[in-house]
Amino acid sequence: MTPQVEAIPRIISMTNQVGGSGKSTSGVNMGAILADWGYKTLVVDADDQCDASVALGYMHPDAIVGQKNIYDCLTDKSVKLREAIVPAFAGPYDAEGSKRIENLDLVLGSGEMENAEQHLTTAMARELWLKRLLDQVKGEYDVIIIDCPGSLGLVVIGAILASTEVVACIKPGFKELRGLTRIEQKIAAIQEEFSEYGADARLSGIILVDVPTSRSQGAVWDDGKNMAKQAYGDLVLAGSTEDQLGIRRSTKIPESYAHQKVLLHYDRAGEATYDYIAVTKGLGFQKQAI
Ligand SMILES: Nc1ncnc2c1ncn2[C@@H]1O[C@H](COP(=O)(O)OP(=O)(O)OP(=O)(O)O)[C@@H](O)[C@H]1O
Ligand SMILES: [Mg+2]
Repeated sequence: MTPQVEAIPRIISMTNQVGGSGKSTSGVNMGAILADWGYKTLVVDADDQCDASVALGYMHPDAIVGQKNIYDCLTDKSVKLREAIVPAFAGPYDAEGSKRIENLDLVLGSGEMENAEQHLTTAMARELWLKRLLDQVKGEYDVIIIDCPGSLGLVVIGAILASTEVVACIKPGFKELRGLTRIEQKIAAIQEEFSEYGADARLSGIILVDVPTSRSQGAVWDDGKNMAKQAYGDLVLAGSTEDQLGIRRSTKIPESYAHQKVLLHYDRAGEATYDYIAVTKGLGFQKQAI
């Protein structure tokens, strides 16, 4: 299999400082779809909640004896990023019957990342922490997806500086759409401030998540969808059916998380799965020829 490798891997930060906006869900599910399509993919869990790690098979990342994680790499220069990379699983990694997801790796998260901001405040070249780590392995991947925490601190700035693009996830309500303006301004400000580091991440897509399907339920959401479309045009990624923007509300999403499985392995033919496939295509990816 020869995936269409770009000179530099696409490095995508999943962002939005509004919490609970579908960043982790979108990051791991797109990651699994890309892996299925033949892209060698790395998901980086940069959030202290460790949702990406849980979703990819690692319920307690800090409790694995002898295993390094992202916080170890951040705080100890002698720890190489490769030491924190583990294979992604469908199901708990240590349970019988769980399956390794081919082509998908994970930089293991850590609950200790809650101390990351404090640690970075006094670190040298603190904004470049993640770029420097990813430089160690980026030649080995076609796509790297960074799952960011839901606040705009040094961890997220580091992620944006390490990225070639930013994908924003939002639940399309008024408050959330206002938050998106802030992320756009933040990207622009970071680029201006760190232009000497070659900061050039662009906003490449907006994923609306948890979009109700029934019209009666959806007046406010319809307004939100329309507002998003008006403000951001084609950046708002289409779902899998006509007129469907983003990812439909689906009980399969919390269920699949509870089973520690990505949608592709939990509900392969489900609506939300198809929406994520459409969104991944909308970002310009396609199944690689074998
Ligand atoms: N399409 C959907 N249908 C139903 N529930 C969804 C959908 N998308 C996300 N959710 C639920 O919304 C919640 C938040 O999603 P997620 O954890 O992906 O957001 P996040 O932006 O990563 O949050 P945080 O800022 O806390 O890291 C989760 O409980 C998830 O199961
Ligand atoms: Mg998250």
